[in-house]
Amino acid sequence: MIIAIDGPAAAGKGTLARRIAEAYGYHHLDTGLTYRATAKALLDAGLPLDDEAIAEGMAREVDLAGLDRAVLSRHEIGEAASKIAVMPTVRTALREMQQKFAQKEPGAVLDGRDIGTVVCPGAPVKLYVTASAEVRAKRRYEEIVEAGGSADYDAIFEDVKRRDERDMGRTDSPLKPAEDAHLLDTSEMSIEAAFQTAKSIIDAAL
Ligand code: C5P
Repeated sequence: MIIAIDGPAAAGKGTLARRIAEAYGYHHLDTGLTYRATAKALLDAGLPLDDEAIAEGMAREVDLAGLDRAVLSRHEIGEAASKIAVMPTVRTALREMQQKFAQKEPGAVLDGRDIGTVVCPGAPVKLYVTASAEVRAKRRYEEIVEAGGSADYDAIFEDVKRRDERDMGRTDSPLKPAEDAHLLDTSEMSIEAAFQTAKSIIDAAL
């Protein structure tokens, strides 16, 4: 079983993917972390973010077992990740790794931007999780504040919009729902309600 979950930043797809993987005993890969790990390796090594051959080399070194969102969550890393994510050879290198992961038994849940469209176009279950930019910015703001940090809502809102534009506007594998994806708008839906909806879609495909 392969479950493909796509959607823009902060729509709740990561939380949903983790819950599904846990409930069904499937492996989970947050593919955004593969882009983040590549970007962090470049930043740490002081290498440029605009040299595709260097970025591709770093992408090929990514170790899927060592990915940790706590280490990769920094804002600059997300920004850098979305810059190198426009490079076709970087995408090919990471896609090959992601496709191998998707073959894991008894099943795999992959979340990202292009799983249902490009990485696993044959996935039996595809979900496209979205929410308005305002709601997504508000959730991110609250996450930071609840964790004890200080945040600027307007800056976060601008950042969410900028990331959407970059992810939806790129030529290679832009963010968009697959034709056969189920749309889940979580703007006015709790994570529990989203999970129950996802569960009925998955159960019908099993
Ligand atoms: O989801 P996350 O914010 O961690 O992803 C970081 C960046 O990686 C995204 O803004 C996007 O540009 C890129 N990405 C992608 N394809 C994926 C997952 C992430 O292009 N499947």
